Amino acid sequence: MKVLRFSDLCEEGRARGRRVFIRADLNVPQDDQGRITEDTRIRASVPCIEMALAGGAAVMVTSHLGRPTEGELKPEDSLAPVATRLAELLGRPVRLVRDWVGGVDVQPGEVVLLENCRVNKGEKKNSPELAQKMAALCDIYVNDAFGTAHRAEATTYGIAQYAKVACAGPLLAAEIDAIGKALANPRRPLVAIVAGSKVSTKLTILQSLAKNVDQLVVGGGIANTFMLAAGLPIGKSLAEADLVGEAKAVMAAMKARGAEVPIPTDVVVAKTFAADAPATVKKAQDVAADDMILDIGPETARRLADQLKAAGTIVWNGPVGVFEFDAFAQGTEAIARAVAASSAFSIAGGGDTLAAIAKYGIEKDVGYISTGGGAFLEVLEGKTLPAFEILEKRAAG
Ligand code: 3PG
Repeated sequence: MKVLRFSDLCEEGRARGRRVFIRADLNVPQDDQGRITEDTRIRASVPCIEMALAGGAAVMVTSHLGRPTEGELKPEDSLAPVATRLAELLGRPVRLVRDWVGGVDVQPGEVVLLENCRVNKGEKKNSPELAQKMAALCDIYVNDAFGTAHRAEATTYGIAQYAKVACAGPLLAAEIDAIGKALANPRRPLVAIVAGSKVSTKLTILQSLAKNVDQLVVGGGIANTFMLAAGLPIGKSLAEADLVGEAKAVMAAMKARGAEVPIPTDVVVAKTFAADAPATVKKAQDVAADDMILDIGPETARRLADQLKAAGTIVWNGPVGVFEFDAFAQGTEAIARAVAASSAFSIAGGGDTLAAIAKYGIEKDVGYISTGGGAFLEVLEGKTLPAFEILEKRAAG
């Protein structure tokens, strides 16, 4: 992907004394008191801001937080807690600016955080008027918001059309590079793990990966639908019987390429969906009518772990069992440990996957952890994300 990179502009001294507008994704979870419960995205935004400061720029940063109603700033929509955390991480004051579309007072060497960009009227619909006003605030527009790269909004798309210079920040560039390394030119075998509750939400991802990967590991409710497609009993497990035909088509497409969808040969079942429900390991063909499959079994976990250890590249999205309940977490833990132990280049993304990575403390052993949720999934679907598309257009002149 050919885009202008902010790091190159800074190296060439082209940010010195310039007004730089950084669109970051600082959309972090908060508790009922507004305290930030997980700050990965804020930490991931720091290198771009520091790069701009080191390059001598006057730095404006903005992000959305949640999905507020345009035109009103409710206290819970404010980026105030983010400004505090960002100031701690940067070790310098970060002034929060409200009502900024008409003009921003910021000096070289200073960082200001522009209040939740989604409260501006026209942001979601990518209003050209709004985008033009925002473009007029800066000399250089930097998109560093991979988590929002699948949205064509005024701060992610429109402003990039009108800004004098539009480029990719280091986080966005790193995400493009990591995904390219995993999917465009992978070291083989390429193994993808796609797990989650429903085939329907990830069908296009499965279809797209089926054209490229060597092993397509399915997990969770998705695996149950594939087990149905393979003629196995699944009792009262979560599944989508109407998508069995699609699952069969994915398996056939893989088989035709000499590739494989490994179907679980054993599973962990319970009679109810509860943390304290007694867990029983069963052969896949022995699942009873009143059983609920809540994890893969140890034999399946071992086989998948071996495949992951022998992989050249691993793409991981989704836990393979109900890992929040310890009795049904062993499959996901085995996958996590195998990803960590593998010499493959691994890339992981999605909220549940990140939670599993954190639970087993393997952050340092994963090649690249994406900050994208929906954006990561859309890349796996093979889509070109709007934020990349416009930056490529601008780079092409
Ligand atoms: C996310 O949390 O996935 C991103 O910040 C995008 O948020 P959105 O789905 O509200 O656009």
